[in-house]
Amino acid sequence: MPATVLVVDDERNIQLTLSRALSMEGYAVETASGGREALEKIAALPVDVVVMDVRMPDLDGLAVLQRARETRPELPIVIMSGHGSIDTVRSAFKLGAFDYLEKPITEKEKLLVAVKNALALESLRAENAALRRAAGQGQLEMIGGGPAMQRLFDLVRRTAPSEGRVLITGENGTGKELVARAIHEQSRRRDRPFVKLNCAAVPAELIESELFGHERGAFTGAVAARRGRFEQADGGTLFLDEVGDMPAAMQAKVLRVLQEGELERVGGQQTLRCDVRVVAATNKDLQAEVAAGRFREDLYYRLNVVPIHTPALRDHKEDVPELAARFLAEACERNGRRAMRLGRDAVAALQTHDWPGNVRELRNLVERLAILCDGPEIGAEDVVAMLPGARRPRGDRLRAGAAFHELVEEAEREIVLAALEAHQDNVSDTARALGLERSHLYKKMRALGIKRGAE
Ligand SMILES: Nc1ncnc2c1ncn2[C@@H]1O[C@H](COP(=O)(O)OP(=O)(O)OP(=O)(O)O)[C@@H](O)[C@H]1O
Ligand SMILES: [Mg+2]
Repeated sequence: MPATVLVVDDERNIQLTLSRALSMEGYAVETASGGREALEKIAALPVDVVVMDVRMPDLDGLAVLQRARETRPELPIVIMSGHGSIDTVRSAFKLGAFDYLEKPITEKEKLLVAVKNALALESLRAENAALRRAAGQGQLEMIGGGPAMQRLFDLVRRTAPSEGRVLITGENGTGKELVARAIHEQSRRRDRPFVKLNCAAVPAELIESELFGHERGAFTGAVAARRGRFEQADGGTLFLDEVGDMPAAMQAKVLRVLQEGELERVGGQQTLRCDVRVVAATNKDLQAEVAAGRFREDLYYRLNVVPIHTPALRDHKEDVPELAARFLAEACERNGRRAMRLGRDAVAALQTHDWPGNVRELRNLVERLAILCDGPEIGAEDVVAMLPGARRPRGDRLRAGAAFHELVEEAEREIVLAALEAHQDNVSDTARALGLERSHLYKKMRALGIKRGAE
């Protein structure tokens, strides 16, 4: 696809000359005759580079530059200006212009070089971002230093290298998909495909073709042959997500492949063998689904060779500080904000919440905090304002329905945090003041997810 250049100038003939020169080089060209139109096109079209006059009647180039920075910070903008007013040029660069061309543009070479450089920079940036993302995904780093998550990681480590089918159960947002990917990444199949199929989202009439593929002309609309998910995953892992919502017709078909290891494409004559490891996940109680007659028992036993359960976040609140800190750092980077941190009270407030949406809910909340809070430190009041379920620490904690051990844990957390604060995070002094062994205090802090303190 050719790159798109937006040419902005209020003079029609300049627009035309520049457009022609760029088109002849193979670029797709869009034009705008003023600042407002330019902003609209930048917002609406896949513009890759902008070449723009500074002096325009409605909204001048510098203003456009400034606003475009806010919506498309990475978009390279080349500014053109008449009489080399050094101040204008300086302001333009300060506002992030990529390059500057002096008008009239008599040599079209200069224009082409500026555009080419701008595109090179842009593609380098995109490549970098993609690499960073890939590295982030490749690590598949699940967070969780607490005992519940450590048990989970240990189970994943032991299960992954085997060929055993895995059934992952857990509430929404507890990381089931991350576990499935981690199993694949740690298995011998890691260099082969990981294919995901959401069993709840396949239209009834497409089940067979989705699973097994079809030959060309197998049914109306089958204009080309297509490989099904089992075939796509050959040699690798097939992740059957939301398996508890698999329609009965699909259950029968999946069972057959799992039993026989063979399949035929829809409309195909040939029997294909496939070597696929199936990892399934559900937030439903599959055994109850079996009892209710909604899920085939024979399929359940075939899928559930190794059961893995992802714990609810309320059962490992000790990991909240680390999760929140990581999500905050990521959110700041993604939204182009300066690094922020969570205040001690803010973390404690996060730990008073029960997180029915689990890690996903925490991640979304932290992203909101990163976008909406100003200042480098997020406080407890920011958390409470955005999370009605959370309470400020040190408030009235005797809420109805809280289990005794939860209240004790909360009280302990507050006592330890307050004591640390009073002793400038010096653990030895804090332990002495509380009448505890230093090692005991350390253990307590770890259990409560408190990470601070100097010797
Ligand atoms: N231990 C963890 N460390 C880091 N991120 C996590 C962890 N657990 C979950 N997440 C993040 O939380 C979000 C939800 O995770 P995931 O999609 O794996 O959950 P799920 O159990 O499949 O949820 P659902 O049942 O709603 O599909 C994702 O953004 C994921 O990256
Ligand atoms: Mg999921």
